[in-house]
Amino acid sequence: MTMSADAHRVVAIDGPAASGKSSVARELSRRLGFIHVNSGAMYRALAWSVLRAGICPDDEAAVVAHLAEIDIACSELDGRALICVDGVDPGAGLITTEVNAGVSAVARIAKVREVLVAKQRDYLEIGNIVMEGRDIGSVVFPETPFKFYIDASVEVRAARRQREGIRDDLARRDAADSTRKASPLVVADDALVIDTSEMNLGEVVEAVVAGLNEMGLEVPH
Ligand code: DC
Repeated sequence: MTMSADAHRVVAIDGPAASGKSSVARELSRRLGFIHVNSGAMYRALAWSVLRAGICPDDEAAVVAHLAEIDIACSELDGRALICVDGVDPGAGLITTEVNAGVSAVARIAKVREVLVAKQRDYLEIGNIVMEGRDIGSVVFPETPFKFYIDASVEVRAARRQREGIRDDLARRDAADSTRKASPLVVADDALVIDTSEMNLGEVVEAVVAGLNEMGLEVPH
């Protein structure tokens, strides 16, 4: 995939579950006036639909057949990506315990990644984007010069999830996301790595802003 010379710009924010990348991406997109796209929400929307259809997320053939039958529409509303499955916005259905438990199985299927990565790249047609995920800097937009990897210790990430009141087996999801064959979670060679274990949100945003300034992208207040 090649980003054309006059293409829109992409800030790629990768990292493991509950590393705080959503909060950073939200604030950064607000300041930059870029569209905020959470690529994880696309994998979650498929997992949500698969579970609603009574399909086991581990049943690769059934998941791929289901994907071919549904319409996953990705658009933009007020600067945020909007994902609808057959015209329905899953909303809070994306962050249930069941979806948390099933999403990694769906995301490791190569055909699923092929289809959803194409939709992620289509966002560039709409405008400049801040996109968060696992493989944005390594696979989806490897050409972008603006890459970050937001990390935190598993203890800190588990505590964050607990405060949110969400049940999420992070260690299991980390292992599944990092060891799968298709586009595993990796640190892109040219990504700026920020360990947020000892930082608050404001400090993380300032670290990313400083990185972007060095990379040649000015960030308004
Ligand atoms: O960021 P998240 O926890 O909402 O992501 C949900 C799942 O989707 C995660 O367990 C792995 C998968 N994912 C992925 O494989 N690639 C991405 N770019 C984003 C998420």
